Amino acid sequence: MARRPLIAGNWKMHLGPADADTFATELKRRFAGAEGVDLVVAPPAISIPAVASRLKHTGIDVAGQDLHPEPSGAYTGWVSGEMLKQAGAAYAIVGHSERRELAHEDDALIARKVKAAFRAGLIPIFCVGERLAERDAGRAEEVVLRQLGAGLQGLAPDLAVAVVIAYEPVWAIGTGRTATPEQAQAMHAVIRAFLAEAFPAWVAGQARILYGGSVKAGNARSLLDQPDIDGALVGGASLSADDFSAIVDAARGR
Ligand code: PGA
Repeated sequence: MARRPLIAGNWKMHLGPADADTFATELKRRFAGAEGVDLVVAPPAISIPAVASRLKHTGIDVAGQDLHPEPSGAYTGWVSGEMLKQAGAAYAIVGHSERRELAHEDDALIARKVKAAFRAGLIPIFCVGERLAERDAGRAEEVVLRQLGAGLQGLAPDLAVAVVIAYEPVWAIGTGRTATPEQAQAMHAVIRAFLAEAFPAWVAGQARILYGGSVKAGNARSLLDQPDIDGALVGGASLSADDFSAIVDAARGR
C-alpha cells in the first residue's frame, strides 16, 4: 500500500488569532478537499480555535506545536493535549529541535509527550535530528537512533505505525541550508530500518517519515522524489500561501 504524502506547516510563533484566521481562509480557498495529500497546519496554541473552526470540513487538519505530558494541573503557561484536542487539533508536534534546545527538552520528556498525544487522541508528529557538530563528528545516525529509540519505546505496533516521524537535521532548520536529497534519503532509510527492527515489518512499510529543514518551493520536488521521504514539515515557507502551495503540488505530483 502506497504511503499517502503528508505536508505539515509549522507556523512557529507567527500569526495570532486574527491573522491566523485570515491566512487559514486563504488556505481553505486553495486546498479544501485537496486529494492525494494530507495537509496539516500547526498554528500557535492561541490561534488553534480560530484556525480549526475555519478549516472544519476542509480536510486540512490542525496540529499543536507542543503539549504538556499531563492532562491538566498546576503547570502555569502550559497547554495539554486534551486541551489541544478540545480546541480542534488532530495532531501535535513533539520534540521539535527548537524545544529540545531552547526549552531543554530531553528524550525522556519527549517520550512522555508522544504517549500523552495518543492519550489525548492526537497523532504525534515526532521530530528527530542531529546538530551540525554531531554530523561533522560522524554521529548523525547514532543521535537519530537514540532519539527514535527513546521516543517510540514501549509503543504497541498499531500506535507506532500512526506516529508521523519528522527527520529535521538541526543545521538545516531556518538556515536556508537544506540536506541534499541523498543525505535526507540516507537518514530516512536508516529510520525505516530502525522501525523494521523494532516493530513488525508492516510498521516500517506503512509509517510516514517527513523531511524538514529549509524545505522550499524550489527543492521540495527533489526531496519528495526520494523513496523513503513521505512528506515535509515546513517552517518558513509555510507562512506564504504561494510557497506552501508549490510544496503541496510537488507532493501531489510525485
Ligand atoms: P524551516 O523550519 O522550514 O523554516 O527550516 C522547519 C521546522 O522547523 O520544522
